[in-house]
Amino acid sequence: MSLLEVDSLTVRYGGLVALDEARLRVERGSLVGLIGPNGAGKTTMIDCLTGFTPATSGTVVFDGHDVTSLPAHRRTRLGMVRTFQSLELFNDLSVRDNCRVAASDPRWWEPLADVVRPGRKAVDDAVLDDTLASLGLSEFAGLRPPELSHGHRKLVGIARVLVRKPDLLLLDEPAAGLDSAESRVLGRLLRAKVDGGASMLLIDHDMNLMLGICDHIYVLDFGRVIAEGTPDEIRVTPAVVAAYLGTDAGDEDELLRESVSQSVPSTGTDTR
Ligand SMILES: Nc1ncnc2c1ncn2[C@@H]1O[C@H](COP(=O)(O)OP(=O)(O)OP(=O)(O)O)[C@@H](O)[C@H]1O
Ligand SMILES: [Mg+2]
Repeated sequence: MSLLEVDSLTVRYGGLVALDEARLRVERGSLVGLIGPNGAGKTTMIDCLTGFTPATSGTVVFDGHDVTSLPAHRRTRLGMVRTFQSLELFNDLSVRDNCRVAASDPRWWEPLADVVRPGRKAVDDAVLDDTLASLGLSEFAGLRPPELSHGHRKLVGIARVLVRKPDLLLLDEPAAGLDSAESRVLGRLLRAKVDGGASMLLIDHDMNLMLGICDHIYVLDFGRVIAEGTPDEIRVTPAVVAAYLGTDAGDEDELLRESVSQSVPSTGTDTR
């Protein structure tokens, strides 16, 4: 059984079908990509998988549990943790405290635990330090987000997710706004996490990143899964190029088309 099994998932917003009978699998220890044009339904997929948007129909089974009707916080406790497309960092808190806050998960017995073990922490300092180090953020731990570059702020967003030690990470456009060099560094970091045992569902528009690091890719268009396969399979699928770039591609689109079809190495590991 796969870690995540999504079947016939449909999400309607009024008359709009944002997800249409979508099927998706994430195997343990794999990096699965989700691509598609703007408005294709990618964020809706993560919203629905994590309980932020209700499914109109279909099922989401995570680690053997049918979570389709569970509220978001229950899914988080089961080990599904997401990032948001817009960075939601606390600008008045240090990088370290941003991660601490994200890892805290208040429960009814917390005040009692505080009495029994005053000064206890929601997240272990060693886990926090290791996570920040693994993302190259150690030297920024005491700084606040406005003092960081955009690239480092994006990494803090990922650190906040990782300190929870999730079984499945769901990342919504972590490379948005990064230049190509920063994006390559991010790709290596994400791939290293998966090679270290993490499981990941990744959304991004950077085709070099996606085709370079994913094990398997799903392509959404108008809410439907129109293709899936390895990066090698995806980059030669005409429907993918057409859906991503449209049929009236101009010069700019031609460059993108080349990045889809040519600039990607033949295996998912070469760009690491
Ligand atoms: N809360 C909402 N209410 C109504 N319509 C919504 C809502 N969220 C998304 N939509 C619509 O659902 C469709 C899918 O949106 P979604 O945000 O999932 O696309 P996306 O693939 O993530 O796009 P992008 O690449 O721009 O982030 C779009 O037509 C969008 O306008
Ligand atoms: Mg989106």
